[in-house]
Amino acid sequence: MSSPSSSNLPLKAIPGDYGLPFFGAIKDRLDYFYNEGTDEFFRTRMQKYQSTIFRCNMVPGPFMAQNPKVVVLLDAVSFPVLFDTSKVEKKDVVATYMPSTNFTGGYRVCAHLDPSEPKHAIFKGLFLSTLATRHDKFIPLYRSSLSQLFIDLEDEFSSKGKAYFNDYCNKMSFNFSANLFCDRNPSSTILTSDKATKFFDLWLFFQLAPLMTLGLPKILNFLEDIVLHTFPLPSLLLKCDYNKFYKVFNEYAKSILDEAESLGIKRDEACHNLVFFVCFNSYGGMKTALPALIKWVGLAGEELHRRLAEEIRTVVRSEGGVTFAALEKMSLTKSVAWEALRIEPPVAFQYAHAKEDLVIHNHDASFEIKKGEMIFGYQPFATKDPRVFERPEEFVGDRFVGEEGEKLLKYVYWSNGREIDDPTVGNKQCPAKNLVVLLSRVMLVEFFLRYDTFTVEAGTLPLGTTATFTSMSKVTSS
Ligand code: HEM
Repeated sequence: MSSPSSSNLPLKAIPGDYGLPFFGAIKDRLDYFYNEGTDEFFRTRMQKYQSTIFRCNMVPGPFMAQNPKVVVLLDAVSFPVLFDTSKVEKKDVVATYMPSTNFTGGYRVCAHLDPSEPKHAIFKGLFLSTLATRHDKFIPLYRSSLSQLFIDLEDEFSSKGKAYFNDYCNKMSFNFSANLFCDRNPSSTILTSDKATKFFDLWLFFQLAPLMTLGLPKILNFLEDIVLHTFPLPSLLLKCDYNKFYKVFNEYAKSILDEAESLGIKRDEACHNLVFFVCFNSYGGMKTALPALIKWVGLAGEELHRRLAEEIRTVVRSEGGVTFAALEKMSLTKSVAWEALRIEPPVAFQYAHAKEDLVIHNHDASFEIKKGEMIFGYQPFATKDPRVFERPEEFVGDRFVGEEGEKLLKYVYWSNGREIDDPTVGNKQCPAKNLVVLLSRVMLVEFFLRYDTFTVEAGTLPLGTTATFTSMSKVTSS
């Protein structure tokens, strides 16, 4: 890849415009959801302006967002400005709108705080240390959650001849997340009932609906646009059930809440943060990331499966089990996990406000952004930048193997930071960055210890992907 020095690049005005007030934003919203679709929306504008940086309105627009105007970034070079908290502010930037704090007990939770706000460091530090102290639980707890997942999948597969992965994956992900952070097993509570995933799917939907379309028949587009994208869905409808789950966390996750109190945080604020941490960050992340992994590995075909099975079984045999050390030795498995996160980043949208007047650049030019402007990155384009990645649209399982391959990791951004960086209290990178990569690898390990190969049917969800197993061949040789 040619790495341009920004000083040699011409300074250009950012192309694109916002159209008429109100109507421009509505037009962009209709194009985004109904006339073009997400990828096409960005692709047509990138081609029209011959630039990976341009201006447009971002959904949802009126009346959800006060200001829908953004500067869009679509390449690997400009994208990381969104991670530089010395240059951008990440306060309340879920999107151009913010879900009501009534979904989280009236509090702004860690994920919505900017590192300049003192509470961000307290909560992020708490979450980082909570994860560190549970390090030894990761592999055994996840492996036992996966055992149940595979039993359920096989049952469904043998009775129906195919098995829809997402539902079982959701159940597994929720149980894993809840168990990881509770002091004792919440299995006798509402937290591990089927109601939990149904409720939290709805709770996530209510907060993220302005970014979604349900793919309904065209005739219903207008109605959908009003209901999902124009006014917020009422949090009051969920309050009663939310409180039931909150109570269980309050009772079962005492040690984290005690620690939060010792850091000067009110117990109820800590507990609402914990609910968000477990049910939005962790469950929401896993339910998006893992089906995408299975989909891409499934579609990659038998040859990749053969190589993965061989690597996994050889290393597990020589290391005497599935350990951190064993996982480190599986270079292809590691690479496949990263490749899935590259080709389909689970959180596709990143937003931030410029803290000051900035000059950013892409491969070809520099551009000025004014203080206060909203910067928006659509990550799937940045991590498929053809000037960084060869065959960017292709799932290349061994892309990150070896010294040369690993050099590309600095362009993998799924965690809201570069894969070669680490989450800290001063940045907004996912504190579970290493855990998520571990979970992806162990998913592959457990799969290929049981099966030789498989096929999947892929589908889409309003935010994410579906994978349905259409064949699963059990291990024939070890
Ligand atoms: C499994 C897939 C996961 C994905 C794809 C994911 C992705 C992300 C991303 C993209 C962000 C940054 C959001 C933004 O500011 O734009 C983030 C933040 C965060 N994630 Fe994750 N995450 C995952 C799992 C987890 C898990 C398992 C946990 C906790 C156990 C977690 C806890 C958090 C927290 C607390 C933040 C806020 C960080 C901050 O405010 O500095 N995530 N995650």
